Amino acid sequence: MKFFVDTADVEAIKELTALGMVDGVTTNPSLIMKSGRDILEVTKEICEIVAGPVSAETVALDAEGMIAEGRKLAKIAPNITVKVPLTWDGLKACKVLSDEGHMVNVTLCFSANQALLAAKAGATFISPFVGRLDDINVDGMELIADIRTIYDNYDFKTQILAASIRTVNHVSQAAMIGADVMTAPPEVIRKLAAHPLTDKGLEAFLKDWEKTGQKIL
Ligand code: G3P
Repeated sequence: MKFFVDTADVEAIKELTALGMVDGVTTNPSLIMKSGRDILEVTKEICEIVAGPVSAETVALDAEGMIAEGRKLAKIAPNITVKVPLTWDGLKACKVLSDEGHMVNVTLCFSANQALLAAKAGATFISPFVGRLDDINVDGMELIADIRTIYDNYDFKTQILAASIRTVNHVSQAAMIGADVMTAPPEVIRKLAAHPLTDKGLEAFLKDWEKTGQKIL
């Protein structure tokens, strides 16, 4: 499973990239707002750090506007993925932009039928929002599993990008189901390394090591 980092925080992206944890980046208007940076500037900087796909989201509501914004965003760097919302206009924009050869990430997906439409419109990625479904007491992981089944049934090439990933369990569950990609905030990716038995085991090893009186260096 590819790891995308869901942030516009350049320092966090640099840190995780150095560890080989970043196959791509996703941003959205809320994350740009949080960064306090200009969208074109910060996205360009991210594309210089990360070789993989970097999603930059359009904000127009009509297809023409999304297409124009998408074309402008795509000029930032060759690895830009234009992100459009899963609306009828978003699907129109997806078709035009993907026919032009741009990578397109269709976002704000909350149903299997929406994911089916995105695949038919040529999306490179579909972003089902797991955490936001969990928020309304719907199992977000069931949606990932349904989309996996549908895409496999018909050999759709659109990649499932599990988004709105909030917990470490979301990550392992998405991987078990076979999501192609997951995007998570840096803090969730860091938490994947943590386990209380690792900490406990390390503490015991170090106590015993002290008793040996030895040194490695
Ligand atoms: O990848 C989508 C993500 O940015 C939304 O996450 O936690 O705001 O639902 P969240």
